[in-house]
Amino acid sequence: MDTSKQCWRGIILLGGPGSGKGTQAVLLAQKLGIAHISTGDLFRENIRMGTELGKVAKTYIEKGELVPDEVTVRMVRERVNRPDCTNGFILDGFPRTVAQADALNQVLAEMHRSLTAVLNLQVAPDVLLERLSRRWTCKACGAVFPEFSAPPRAGCKKEVCDGELYQRPDDKPETQRHRIEVYREQTAPLEAYYAERGLLVEIDGENSIERVHQLILDAVRCVEEEDRHTV
Ligand code: AP5
Ligand code: MG
Repeated sequence: MDTSKQCWRGIILLGGPGSGKGTQAVLLAQKLGIAHISTGDLFRENIRMGTELGKVAKTYIEKGELVPDEVTVRMVRERVNRPDCTNGFILDGFPRTVAQADALNQVLAEMHRSLTAVLNLQVAPDVLLERLSRRWTCKACGAVFPEFSAPPRAGCKKEVCDGELYQRPDDKPETQRHRIEVYREQTAPLEAYYAERGLLVEIDGENSIERVHQLILDAVRCVEEEDRHTV
């Protein structure tokens, strides 16, 4: 994809817990040169730093529940206005409710921007559970891996990263299942929400990481071609 003539891009990655949003967002952000905004990572960062926001978020995250909309929207509104978002952003894990999607429309309108595409990573629940139970996350940079490996390792977000790998506390089997349930009840309605607005693109998320990345690039290219022809 030609990223030399940089245009603004606003991309949402939708999909259940473990569908590969974080994995794909990192690859796509590198490829397109835009910011990767993961609400889960922002909450975990706040929990690590012991902020007031982190204290609130922790009580919900450890139960596999969603953090209240107003708290989440306030955090995202502040984040999308930072300088690294000049060329756009990939939203990973936001919005997760219809109220959050409505709030995002408002934020984008204030920025005089509109979404490029909403990419829905489709992965069956049994595959989600299997992926979450063997996921390891880097303590230092948040990168995720499908198996344990000792540092230094390729794939961390920093060039030299010697972070320890850990398993997320919300990846306990009972919390995993609850997160999938919460996704089905509160987030899956966004598929219809964005389909009605002509923004939803289905991606088969059960392919290899490299293949899913290619499908995503093809989808973004295709959407942008269509937009050029309708202008
Ligand atoms: P969040 O951190 O967003 O968690 P999630 O949605 O449950 O998603 P995950 O991060 O678990 O999975 P992922 O889709 O990123 O998959 P990954 O790439 O890691 O949110 C955590 C919590 O924060 C929520 O439960 C909630 O409490 C709160 N929160 C966050 N956002 C919120 C919001 N907007 N509103 C309210 N509350 C909010 O991949 C998983 C594993 O699979 C990895 O090991 C990876 O290596 C592997 N893998 C990835 N792709 C493939 C592939 N194609 N083939 C094989 N393996 C793969
Ligand atoms: Mg993630």
